[in-house]
Amino acid sequence: MKKTYHIGVIPGDGTGPEVSAEALKVLTAAAEKAGFEYELIHYPFGGERYLKCGETLPDSAVSEMERLNAILLGAIGHPDVKPGILEKEILLKLRFSLDLYINLRPVKLYPGVETPLKNKEPRHIDFDVVRENTEGLYAGAGGVLRKGTLHEVAIQESINTRKGVERCLKYAFERCRKRNGKKQLTLCGKTNVLTYAFDLWERVFHEVGSGYPDIATDYAHVDAVCMWMIKNPERFDVIVTDNMFGDIISDLGAMIQGGMGVAAGGNINPEGTAMFEPIGGSAPKYTGKNMINPLAAVIAVQMMLSHIGEEKGAFLIETSVLKVIHHHMKSMEAGKMGIGTREIGDRVASFIREDV
Ligand code: IPM
Ligand code: MN
Repeated sequence: MKKTYHIGVIPGDGTGPEVSAEALKVLTAAAEKAGFEYELIHYPFGGERYLKCGETLPDSAVSEMERLNAILLGAIGHPDVKPGILEKEILLKLRFSLDLYINLRPVKLYPGVETPLKNKEPRHIDFDVVRENTEGLYAGAGGVLRKGTLHEVAIQESINTRKGVERCLKYAFERCRKRNGKKQLTLCGKTNVLTYAFDLWERVFHEVGSGYPDIATDYAHVDAVCMWMIKNPERFDVIVTDNMFGDIISDLGAMIQGGMGVAAGGNINPEGTAMFEPIGGSAPKYTGKNMINPLAAVIAVQMMLSHIGEEKGAFLIETSVLKVIHHHMKSMEAGKMGIGTREIGDRVASFIREDV
């Protein structure tokens, strides 16, 4: 009997619904070809709904999502909603309540995609950023005193727990082994200044690492990582880091792999559910114009299939994406692609169906 997966879809705002629609087209083709079935559960959450009825993400939806195999997210963000609300009440709430403690961001330059880095080719840019996704500066610890006065004090603390650090590092070592690339895991930190937090990270890194003799380890300060990502990205295989540094370096990674049109990520609980997304945001300027690049959302589906163990479907998506880039696209940037959003989705799906 074919396996059936339960997949949540949050199309969200702006171009989110458009790119999700193309991603789902591709999912349909991949399922046919790879021989699995799925049921979709659509969720209407996002800025649009918040403005209409004041609801962001009800707890009942979260408990339902806990039981899903995976979630696909389009984009959340609305120009009329004050920054911070949707982020906190939808995205971060999902991360915390589903304990999606890994943020995985593959940084991979595909052939035919332009990178701003001079003289760098696909063989130079192919690594993963593994970001801790539920602690650090994102935990919300701290507070404010005497707000609005000249004596205001604002404190935002970075929370690093032994358990949180250890499970993140374990995932990173496992990921490094699974990638089977250079088999080198780099811890990205700031041990010269953040002497409490990264001392913990460094000790646990070596401790966990002793169980992975096949993986070489090294350490780099976050500022050096930024320099090397530009100058020698080929030195990286897997980078593991805390929440805040991971947020920053993964956007740097998105740029060197060719921009938001192709950058996808996963918010993962390795023992539970996971949510995959194009990381580009809602791009209100391009909404409804058939101009946005859906490949990042398509690649999010590829990551999702790989996560649930449907490697064949994931592989079919990746090879078909490469063909579409090669045969049909002038650029990865919205408005410059030389082909529309829907047509890209159609072509990826037909390459998958044609694959023998
Ligand atoms: C990301 C985003 C989020 C983050 C925002 C939208 C809260 O930038 O997924 O990287 O900072 O984690
Ligand atoms: Mn970010």
